[in-house]
Amino acid sequence: MIPDKAPKEDVFHGSEDLKKEAHITSFENYKELYMKSIENPDEFWGDVAKDFFWKTKHTGQFLDYNFDVTKGEIFVKCMEGASTNISYNLLDRNVHERKLGDKVAFYWEGNEPGDELTVTYRELLQRVCQFANVLKSQGVKKGDRVSIYMPMVVELVVAMLACARIGAVHSIVFAGFSAESLCERIMDSQCSLLITADGFYRGDKLINLKLLADEALQKCRDKGFPIEKCIMLKHLSKEAEETSLGSQSPPAKRSCPDLQVPWNPEVDLCWHALVRGASDECEPEWCGSEDPLFILYTSGSTGKPKGVLHTVSGYMLYTAATFKLVFDYQLDDVYWCTADIGWITGHSYITYGPLANGATSVLFEGLPTYPDVSRMWEIVDKYHVTKFYTAPTAIRLLMKYGSEPVQKYKRESLKVLGTVGEPINPEAWQWYYNVVGERRCPIVDTFWQTETGGHVLTPLPAATPMKPGSATFPFFGVVPAILNESGEELEGPSEGYLVFKQPWPGVMRTVYGNHQRFETTYFKKFPGYYVTGDGCRRDKDGYYWITGRIDDMLNVSGHLLSTAEVESALVEHEAVAEAAVVGRPHPVKGESLYCFVTLADGVTYNRTLEAELKKQVREKIGAIATPDYIQNAPALPKTRSGKIMRRVLRKIACDERDLGDISTLADSSVVEQLFQNRCCTAV
Ligand code: WT7
Repeated sequence: MIPDKAPKEDVFHGSEDLKKEAHITSFENYKELYMKSIENPDEFWGDVAKDFFWKTKHTGQFLDYNFDVTKGEIFVKCMEGASTNISYNLLDRNVHERKLGDKVAFYWEGNEPGDELTVTYRELLQRVCQFANVLKSQGVKKGDRVSIYMPMVVELVVAMLACARIGAVHSIVFAGFSAESLCERIMDSQCSLLITADGFYRGDKLINLKLLADEALQKCRDKGFPIEKCIMLKHLSKEAEETSLGSQSPPAKRSCPDLQVPWNPEVDLCWHALVRGASDECEPEWCGSEDPLFILYTSGSTGKPKGVLHTVSGYMLYTAATFKLVFDYQLDDVYWCTADIGWITGHSYITYGPLANGATSVLFEGLPTYPDVSRMWEIVDKYHVTKFYTAPTAIRLLMKYGSEPVQKYKRESLKVLGTVGEPINPEAWQWYYNVVGERRCPIVDTFWQTETGGHVLTPLPAATPMKPGSATFPFFGVVPAILNESGEELEGPSEGYLVFKQPWPGVMRTVYGNHQRFETTYFKKFPGYYVTGDGCRRDKDGYYWITGRIDDMLNVSGHLLSTAEVESALVEHEAVAEAAVVGRPHPVKGESLYCFVTLADGVTYNRTLEAELKKQVREKIGAIATPDYIQNAPALPKTRSGKIMRRVLRKIACDERDLGDISTLADSSVVEQLFQNRCCTAV
C-alpha cells in the first residue's frame, strides 16, 4: 500500500512555488484523498461528475463491475442511467456556463514555422456543430462508425467532436499507418464513412494522404466491403484559405498547388464545400453513459490489432480528472502535448482531457527536429507553455544534440514536465529535469495504456517526491498489485506482473466486436484482476517501477507493436518461409526491430530481397514498423515442441553469449550459426 510518509532520501521535488497554487499540495493530502477514492469511489467520482452537465441523472451504483472470469462475463459500467453529451461538456458548457467562449482552445502551429492559427472555444463549438450537421446530412447516425485518417490539424479535433456530438463512434487511424492498416481497421469496425485530407508535410517530406486513403478504400472494395463516402479536407492545396469561419490567415507557407489529388466524384466529397452550406448550430444527441465514444486500435500479441472501445461518461470523468490533477491544470496555463491525436495520448490529453477543463493547448503538426533541433523550445517560448508533455524517445533524440539548442530559448514559463510511452531511463530523466526544466519543474512520469484511457500510475507534481525512472504511485481510484507466476499477490518490495484489482471510470469496456478476446487478453491469466502485460517492481518505499512488457510486444518510440504482426507481414512475402522478430535496445527509439527470416527453398538472400522485405513491412503496417535489422536465418532456435525461443533470439540480436538455460532447445548448433551471421549494422 501507499506509505504514510514520503521518503526523504534519493528523491526529487519541484519548486516550492508550485505548491502554492496546486490542487494537491502534499503527499499526505494525496494519500488522504487516495484512501477516500478507494473506500468511497461513489463520493469521489460523484464530486468530479458535479462539474459536468447531465441531461438525466444516473441511477444506482456509480461503478458496477465484474473482473472475475470465473464468475461470469467481464463488465464495467459507470453512471448507468445517466445521459449526457461529451462535446456539449467540452464546448457548450465552457462557452455558455463558464463564459470561456473567447478563450483560446488551440494554438495550432504548423510544420513550417510561421504557419499558425488560433481557435477559441466559441469558434470550435461552431465548427463542430457545422461538421456535425455535415455528417448528419451524409446519413451518419448515432452508433455508426466513422474512420478518421488525418494529419495534426484543428479539423481533426473538429471531426472527432462532431462524431461525439451526434453519437457516432470515431475510429481514428494514425496518419503514419499504411493503406493496408487503414483498410484492416475500417473493415474491422465496419465504418460507413472515411474522413481524410489531401496531404501534409512531416518536416521536408510530403505525405500524399489521399493516395493512401484511396488505396485503402480500394482494398476494402476488393475484400467485399465497399465504403461509399470519403470526405477530404484540403489542407495543403489552395482552397484551405476559404475555410468557413476564416478571419484567420490560413496555412500558407507550404501550400502545395501541384499536389496530385485523385478524385472520384462518386465517393469523394469536399470538406469545405460541405461545411459552407451547413448551419453552425446543432443540438447534441443525448447519449447513455455506456454508449460507445470511440474505438482505437492497439497492437495485439496475435498480430491482429484490437479495437479498444471507450464509452462516454467514464472516459470523460477520468480524462478530465487526470488532466486536471496530474498536470495540476490552472486556468491561465498553456499546455502542450506533443503526441499525435492518432494515438491514445492525443485522444485523452490533446482533445478530451484539456477541453473538458477549458484549457488552452498548443496543437503541433511538425517534428521536434524540423527545421532544427530547437523547434520545441522555440514553441515553448512563443506560446509561453507552462505544462509540457512528451515521450522519452523525443527526449533521448534531443539529448543527443546537447544543451545548447535548448538554452537558446528561455523556457521561463515551464512549470510541469511530463513523459509517457515507455520507461524513461534515469539519464534522460536527469537531462529533462536539469537542462529542460532547470531543476524547477517536477516531471510526471505517467504510466498508462490505450486500454486504461488515462494515467493509472503517476506522480502528482506538487505532492509526490520523484524518483527518476519510477511512475511512483497510483492515481485516485486505481488499485495496483504485483502478482507472481502463480497469481499470488506479493507484499512489500517485490517484482512480478502488474495488475489492477478494480476498475476506474476510464478503463476500456471491450474489444470492438470481440468481447471474448477482451476477456482472454486481460482477465484470463489471473481471474479477478485486469492484467496490464507489463512487468513491475515495487521498492522499499512502495514506489512502482515498470520493467517493460512481458508478452510478445515491442515498444518502438513509445508505441506498441506485436512481434506477430511484423512476422506475418514478413512471411507474406513469397521468399520467406518463417520469420521471428525480437526487440533490440536502441538508444533513441527504446527498441528497434531485429528480424530473423528463414527463406523458402532455393531462394538466396541478397540486398534486393532485404529492401523488398523492408518495403513489405512498411506497406503492410506503416513506417513505424520498418525493420532495423534483417538476418538470414537458415534455421531458428526451437524447443522440441517447435516453439521459437525468442529469449535466445533476443540474446543473439544483442550479441550476448550468456544464454541461460537452453536445455529445451532441440538443436543447439542453430544458435552458433546465428551468432556467426549476426547483422552488425542496421539495414
Ligand atoms: C504500454 C502502453 C499510454 C500512452 C502511450 C502508449 C508502456 C506507457 C509508460 C511509462 C513505463 C510505459 C507500457 C504500456 N508505457 N507509459 N510511463 N513507463 N512504460 O500507449 O501503445 O497502449 O502502450 O506503453 O508498456 O503497457 P500504448
